[in-house]
Amino acid sequence: MATTPEFAVPVPARSIGFSVNGKPVVVSSSPIERLSRVLREELGLTGTKVGCDAGDCGACTVLLNGEPVCACLVAAGQAEGCEVTTVEGLAQRKAGARLQQAFLEHGAAQCGACTPGMLVAATALIEKSATPSELEVMDAIGGVLCRCTGYRKIIGAILDAAGSSSTACAPLPGTGSTPLTTGHTEDHGGTPTFPACSSASPVVGSASPAYIPAAGAAVGARLVRLDGKKKVEGSEIFGADEMPVGALAVRAIRCPYDRARFQFGDFAAFLREHHGIEAVYTARDVPGRNCYGVIARFADQPVFAENEARYRGEAVAAVAGETAAVEALEAGDFPVTWEQLPALREMDEALAAGTRLIHETRAENILVRGRVVRGDVDTALGAADVSVDFECETGFVEHAYIEPEAGFARRVGDQIEVQACTQSPYMDRNDIAAILGIAAEQVRIIPSAVGGGFGSKLDLSVQPFLAIAAWQSGKPVRMVYSRTESIVSTTKRHASRMRLRGGCTKAGKLVALDVAADFNTGAYASWGPTVAARVPVHGSGPYYVPHYRALTRAIHTNLVPAGAFRGFGVPQAAIAQEQLYDELADRVGMDRLEFRILNALEDETPTVTGQVLGEGVGMRACLEALRPKWQAARKSVAEFNASARGALRRGVGVAGMWYGCGNTSLPNPSTVRIGLKRDGRIALHQGAVDIGQGSNTIVTQICADGLGAPVAHFDLVSGDTSITPDCGKTSASRQTFVTGNAARMAGEKLRTAILALADACSCAAVEFRDGRVVVRENGQARTVDLRSLPLDQHGYVITSEATYDPPTSPLDENGQGKPYAVFGFGAHMAEIEVDRELGTVRVLKVTAAHDVGRAINPTLIEGQIEGGVAQGLGMALMEEFFPGKGENLHDYLIPSAGDVPPVESILIEDPSPVGPFGAKGIGEQAVIPTAPAILNALHDAVGVRLKKTPATPDRVRAAILAARPVIRR
Ligand code: FES
Ligand code: FES
Repeated sequence: MATTPEFAVPVPARSIGFSVNGKPVVVSSSPIERLSRVLREELGLTGTKVGCDAGDCGACTVLLNGEPVCACLVAAGQAEGCEVTTVEGLAQRKAGARLQQAFLEHGAAQCGACTPGMLVAATALIEKSATPSELEVMDAIGGVLCRCTGYRKIIGAILDAAGSSSTACAPLPGTGSTPLTTGHTEDHGGTPTFPACSSASPVVGSASPAYIPAAGAAVGARLVRLDGKKKVEGSEIFGADEMPVGALAVRAIRCPYDRARFQFGDFAAFLREHHGIEAVYTARDVPGRNCYGVIARFADQPVFAENEARYRGEAVAAVAGETAAVEALEAGDFPVTWEQLPALREMDEALAAGTRLIHETRAENILVRGRVVRGDVDTALGAADVSVDFECETGFVEHAYIEPEAGFARRVGDQIEVQACTQSPYMDRNDIAAILGIAAEQVRIIPSAVGGGFGSKLDLSVQPFLAIAAWQSGKPVRMVYSRTESIVSTTKRHASRMRLRGGCTKAGKLVALDVAADFNTGAYASWGPTVAARVPVHGSGPYYVPHYRALTRAIHTNLVPAGAFRGFGVPQAAIAQEQLYDELADRVGMDRLEFRILNALEDETPTVTGQVLGEGVGMRACLEALRPKWQAARKSVAEFNASARGALRRGVGVAGMWYGCGNTSLPNPSTVRIGLKRDGRIALHQGAVDIGQGSNTIVTQICADGLGAPVAHFDLVSGDTSITPDCGKTSASRQTFVTGNAARMAGEKLRTAILALADACSCAAVEFRDGRVVVRENGQARTVDLRSLPLDQHGYVITSEATYDPPTSPLDENGQGKPYAVFGFGAHMAEIEVDRELGTVRVLKVTAAHDVGRAINPTLIEGQIEGGVAQGLGMALMEEFFPGKGENLHDYLIPSAGDVPPVESILIEDPSPVGPFGAKGIGEQAVIPTAPAILNALHDAVGVRLKKTPATPDRVRAAILAARPVIRR
């Protein structure tokens, strides 16, 4: 007997007949069971995703008699006698098949968690309206949230599939409104061999040579993502999509208070009274170390709290048992008594003299401090012609990926296997081994597809609960977080407060900047040390600042841990520094863009850590690429405002960005292995988890050109720690740069080995055929018959492995040194409209210029930029997480399709001397400048600066009212 949690009275199961994707089915289910659940768990149609179970995200959208509905809100009984269409059935419908194709060609699926819902909603639209307008498309997908793409490529794909004209479609390099400019060269290394996104082309996957560039032409090609087909077909396996037979459900028991002491009651009696629940696990059941953390030196987080919980949502126990029994358990039925204790929520409370320590060893509740000092900032500020003070705060931000955390585990002899969504399989392996008290080799981590991560899935979530339950019970176990559980218990972007003082000359040359920034890091360390270390290095922005001091603190409170979120604190710092620079420009009467161009870092100017990059600093090029658009926008805004009569005013703002790729002054190697198989194909073992950003495709493109083989010859082997070497974590914008370099080197090594086998020189051409390699040199062809050759210990004819670790150096006590080998640079320009009466802000357009070194795959890069803009827009205008409130996607708002404006991407290629083919990262870079550009545009439009971000209508209106002159009577 199944029940939906909302119904107090169970309704017995009965036979319910309906049709799914054209086939009749009969299920035995409670009529009040969610249709989404019946589809997924009874019928195995896991293409329909569940992101909220509350009608908020639209991931579960299916067609019910042709109408799009949220399957999580439809009771199974309502489907009786109806025709249900899921993503798995779309290929049978003309519109659905066209849309799947268009999504592939446009790069409209990144992680793919929203893709089934988007495709279904779009199919319903196109079947009703053959040539919908852009507005109709936005309306049709308005109820389906996407956290990755920024919607523009989705809109473009839908318009393309419908045959409507599209403004969202990206052209080929250099042929349209998205120019691809280079700092050093116009050569893109070959012409892509597949059509622009408006062409109708067959469905693409790794076996479709029609879409695959020839050997040596992969880098720079708009290759359709290699894992895209599964995403548009709904066959991708995410964390919740695999359900081992007989698996027990696991559920965590979490603290309902910010801080509480607790005592357990009688577990034996509890188990006797709750039929179907088989086990309870607490700290006593952790066989190894009840402690984990992403940075070993700061590891402090227990799997299960002992005696006292330090934040609301912290787990104290877990139950395992039959799914229905585990789900039916009321929180109050679990034998635990809570004693609520006074909690520290604010940073000032935690810092106050004599305050109780959240961790005994961390004085003043300070987890860690960061420091970069260069020159004499006090003297320089005192001597500056102009100086400006600026203070602001930013709130916590929720990652809000569409896929809540999920996975399963099983014990296989003395080994444990955990399949779950993760950004860091090898880090998970080490932590799970320590928690279970076993060797790392006894732990196998199999990353599922990841439905968005953005940093939060670097930390453990379901994995330790699964591992302990499977290890102790000997049975397979499965755990799926609800949306609320995901929001309550997983990391957030740090809330911050920042005080800056900057000075410049009358001519606008920056002379000094003083930065003090505090970050609310919550109850446990997570990535707090990284945020505290990264912000001082980046706090100047991409400008030459001769005298600089940046001091940061990560401060513990009794709130959910704050961790990694796309930028490790740098987006918060940019909000402060870029607004300050606008104020300085205004004070000296300079154009705000020209002020930035004047001060932009160049190849030979030292950064605030004293690093001289020497090459590949494309910052000025990014700003100069914006100049004509900036001047036109300034003129247009001035004209609009001059004739404005009502409440609407417009503004334009600009902000710059730089971001170091990879770990800060720490080793972060990646190892890639490739193997030549007897059939002539190449196995690419790359452990970089693709969380939607496209590393499966990018790394293959790089490896293909390193080797000189067509991408079509590669078979991807991804992620599994038992079969792929360690490529490190997917974070810090490092996979294109670090794993890409390892892939390039592995490709080159394999080429060298093949040439040696054929006794040919390095200039020879290599062709991969069926079971043969043909080496051509000086008009002679030599054939190597692979089928006759012996296999090595990896099972290949030849195996090539390469490791790349970026060349960095440690920072000294003043933060001086070489923290990163490569930086990405960029600048965004935002054009906005503000309603002065309502305080609402509408972003009309964002123009984003990014120096990516070498655009390995322009379509995927544009996708990263557009998604970053959407997240930056959310951070600027609407997103703030208040712990204990709004723990769902109804109250916590992220941008929907109607909120995100057109984004024009300008790709600058100023090659990095150490990047693979010159490439730099783009993942985090894309989000950093959007929010400050919007906030600068807000000031441009209505003359206000906010003390706290996001700029919600109430805050904007209050600031406008406060800025109005007081009329005295
Ligand atoms: S899962 Fe149904 S709307 Fe989110
Ligand atoms: S692609 Fe839309 S949520 Fe990831």
